[in-house]
Amino acid sequence: MANRSENIHPDFEGMLRRADKEKLLGQRALVLWLTGLSGSGKSTIAKALERKLHEAGRMTALLDGDNIRSGLNRNLGFSVEERVENIRRISEVAKLFLENGIITLASFVSPGKDIREMARQIIGPDDFFEIFVDCPLEECEARDVKGLYKKARAGEIRNFTGIDAPFEAPEAPALTLYTKEESVEESVRRIMEFIKDKIELR
Ligand code: ADX
Repeated sequence: MANRSENIHPDFEGMLRRADKEKLLGQRALVLWLTGLSGSGKSTIAKALERKLHEAGRMTALLDGDNIRSGLNRNLGFSVEERVENIRRISEVAKLFLENGIITLASFVSPGKDIREMARQIIGPDDFFEIFVDCPLEECEARDVKGLYKKARAGEIRNFTGIDAPFEAPEAPALTLYTKEESVEESVRRIMEFIKDKIELR
């Protein structure tokens, strides 16, 4: 995509800082990045987690594949280039939430190591936590909640992650959830435990 930024002059001077927002909200912000196959349970866990955090008095934002793709990114498909652009925009949005002190949950297939590395770099490595929602393809396909695996097998959808487009599992995720074995409540409990100290203001 062409870089049209030559006549743009970003001006952040005089703006309130992230620390000001965090102080107001009484929390430290971070981005939890859930990656995994379609049907692995990312959205279900993200929704339950957000509810739990909300009940605990935390300010959150939830960014989710199908929702973002019906609004902000409605002009993007599933080629490699479009997935990169999808994740680039989402990462920039997540960064905006982060800078406003909000605990941000991002739930996207984000199938490649490079794509997730880009997200990490945009958001900033210190605030980016990769959570691998690990579920065998056979299980996701058996669940087929949205009926998309069936369509992909029938050739009605091309470039479907896990079928005719690759998924690269994270090599060193901050946390791995095994959603074939563990319940949603258990996964949420493990994430809450993982972030407990990280979201406390020091
Ligand atoms: S990503 O690869 O660019 O990160 P994203 O998380 O935004 O994907 O969107 C994935 C969702 O779009 C899936 O949960 C599924 O419902 C839907 N979808 C439609 N076509 C595809 C496809 N070819 N590959 C993967 N998901 C698809």
